[in-house]
Amino acid sequence: MNLIVKKNYIEMSTTAARTVADFIINNPGSLLCFCAGDTPYGMFEQLIEMQKKGLLDLNSVYYVGLDEWVGVGEETTGSCVQVMNDHFYLPANIKPERKLIFNGLNNPQDECKKIADYIKRHGGIGLTVLGIGMNGHIGFNEPGTDISELCGVVALDDVTKSVLPKYFGRQLPLTQGVTVSTKALSEAKQIILIASGEKKAAIIKKIIGSKNRDIPASLLAHLEKTCLIVDRSAYI
Ligand code: F6R
Repeated sequence: MNLIVKKNYIEMSTTAARTVADFIINNPGSLLCFCAGDTPYGMFEQLIEMQKKGLLDLNSVYYVGLDEWVGVGEETTGSCVQVMNDHFYLPANIKPERKLIFNGLNNPQDECKKIADYIKRHGGIGLTVLGIGMNGHIGFNEPGTDISELCGVVALDDVTKSVLPKYFGRQLPLTQGVTVSTKALSEAKQIILIASGEKKAAIIKKIIGSKNRDIPASLLAHLEKTCLIVDRSAYI
């Protein structure tokens, strides 16, 4: 693991954005997998800014969705697709043929097959940028889950259900998620984990100090190719 501790959220986002930009410039045509959630907003803004300045072409690579809540679609504010559309795909002008994402309103098994086939067609994931859940989840790889395929349907952990209103502005009776698996993510050429803020400090400490299936992020964090970028408030 390459651990990078930055002064604040903006610097964490800048470091992540520069790493992603270098990868895109050096690996045109490869497949990228970005998390939704709140953490990557700053990184997305900076990537879009770099594109506006002519420093990189975000349509020179492909994108695959990381995860989705089963039962919601792009019409629902808080769904992963809505977050990604509004904060990345639309402002970055990503062409429809450059991306494939989960549809939480379709049959979850069919969606997993669709995304797994896309990942296979692209020869695996080139770069992934992943936020970290309060329980150490990655995508919807919840503590203790072990998906043997590239994608899977997962029962949402209680901690994930408890943070759900942060995204949807209300409690929703969602119980499952679809996600790219830890296995598929661990096979990416480059892995970036990002975390910011005091609320993530306890789980970051656990991730750095241990490696086990109950903290899915730790399985990725301890790989040599992984870069864990946190800000100072998330690092104690
Ligand atoms: C979202 C996702 C989740 C989040 C994680 C952190 O696509 O995969 O695993 O990355 O829950 O969320 P935030 O960034 O909102 O703290």
